[in-house]
Amino acid sequence: MKTEGGTADAKRRAGERAAEEVEDGFVVGLGTGSTTAYAIDAIGEAVADGLEIRGVPTSFQSRRRALEADIPLTTLDAVDGVDLAIDGADQVVDDPDSSANGALIKGGGAAHTREKLVDATADRFVVVADPSKLTDRLERSVPVEVLPDAHTVVAERIRTRGGEPTLRDAERKDGPVVTDNGNLVLDCAFGPISNPDDLAAWLSRLPGVVEHGLFVDLADATYVGTDSGVERRTY
Ligand code: A5P
Repeated sequence: MKTEGGTADAKRRAGERAAEEVEDGFVVGLGTGSTTAYAIDAIGEAVADGLEIRGVPTSFQSRRRALEADIPLTTLDAVDGVDLAIDGADQVVDDPDSSANGALIKGGGAAHTREKLVDATADRFVVVADPSKLTDRLERSVPVEVLPDAHTVVAERIRTRGGEPTLRDAERKDGPVVTDNGNLVLDCAFGPISNPDDLAAWLSRLPGVVEHGLFVDLADATYVGTDSGVERRTY
């Protein structure tokens, strides 16, 4: 589930710094969430100043934000590729000595399926985060998008691996969260995840799973906004 952390200024610094990577002619993946929203706004300002780009939104939310920012939009099937994707994260491994350095948990906003598609397609994927997202080891619940018919079956399989799945409930609507793709989300608590690559591969093999929120070996860099500036991690 989504928890708000970090300051708005730190998120804004990270988002604005990542937006500086956008070059004329780029196709840009536009991630979802409160941190990426600052990047979208900054890209919109650059577009108003003459930058020519096309954005590929990753959710209803990022599409709306991009439309408000007057960013020309396109779709994956209308382009040859994506030059750069900018996206937030719920947790980022920040340990250069770990083989999982730069691995992410995403999906706090239930947008991780389209986010992973766009982020993985991009030539370069940049994460924007505030320090509250950094961790030695991934340990938040892993969002798993499932076909509605599959939610009990997948939940049972998750339990066999020691996970505790919780069907994500909507706020201000009775019943579950329904994703932009018409599916449901199981938030799966596994405790500290010692081998995210292994868990990611296992989750991907479960019939009924559309996509999970473990992003392993996908990010090229993270911009961490702080109270005074921006720190850059590269992988
Ligand atoms: C959307 O489903 C998520 O993957 C977001 O990208 C992630 O939750 C980061 O959002 P914030 O920048 O709002 O923390």
